Amino acid sequence: MANEGDLTGRAALVTGGSRGIGAAVARALAERGADVAITYVDAADHAKAVVADLEALGHRAVAIRTDVADAHAVASAVDHARDALGRLDILVNNAGIFPNGPLEDVHLDEIDTALAVHVRAAFIAAQAAARHMDDGGRIISIGSCFAERVPYPGVTLYAMTKAALTGLTKGLARDLGPRGITANVVHPGSTDTDMNPADGPGADAERELIALGRYAEAEEIAATVAHLAGPAGAYITGTTIAVDGGFAA
Ligand SMILES: NC(=O)c1ccc[n+]([C@@H]2O[C@H](COP(=O)([O-])OP(=O)(O)OC[C@H]3O[C@@H](n4cnc5c(N)ncnc54)[C@H](OP(=O)(O)O)[C@@H]3O)[C@@H](O)[C@H]2O)c1
Repeated sequence: MANEGDLTGRAALVTGGSRGIGAAVARALAERGADVAITYVDAADHAKAVVADLEALGHRAVAIRTDVADAHAVASAVDHARDALGRLDILVNNAGIFPNGPLEDVHLDEIDTALAVHVRAAFIAAQAAARHMDDGGRIISIGSCFAERVPYPGVTLYAMTKAALTGLTKGLARDLGPRGITANVVHPGSTDTDMNPADGPGADAERELIALGRYAEAEEIAATVAHLAGPAGAYITGTTIAVDGGFAA
């Protein structure tokens, strides 16, 4: 297939694009030709640096400050991205947090926040993006390998919210399939970011669980997202793809 990764003329929104996997996804999409909007919540300097990188690649880029825990702000951010870039073809639901700790210590507000950031925001962003997308759009949500295999205690809330993305994605595939819009989940394994540094205190234990015995670089997750976002992803929908170094093997 010629130019199977070409995103020239496409416009994308990546939530949580200021750091880590989201920043790598934003760069990968721009490297393939897309204009890219990113959201961030706190890291304005990081967001500005990512925008500068994207512009240096010759594309339009914008950073939008949005707390995705705020349902109305999520919908506004999608509209803002579309207005800034003139169109919207690709949505990547990436913004995330890592709630963890003993089950008995999990408070109601933590449950509400995790559901809002990982689940409600993804639903609302997809709903808003679908209104703007032409036929052939792409919705990609970043899940986690913990959605399908929970290797240690203390991550029930995180695993639950990431598993919910499978239901969201299968429903979207059915709702939007008639328009050629695809929806998929990418489940990263342990990836070297601020959330889960490869030299962090639990990293050696995590490496023991991975068939390849090492952390992913954020760019390795981004490559699969970019593949799904491009023409080569046109017949992949309603499914989950693990990029986890064999964590689930
Ligand atoms: N790293 C891993 O091992 C791993 C494994 C599996 C899945 N994941 C998933 O991959 C995604 C990215 O993780 P990462 O490792 O790249 O994390 P990260 O380095 O901590 O970056 C998180 C990103 O999400 C943004 N964000 C967090 N809360 C937000 C909120 N309420 N509203 C808007 N943006 C918010 C952050 O914005 P600011 O920069 O402004 O704070 C940042 O851009 C997450 O969904 C995570 O669950 C990560």
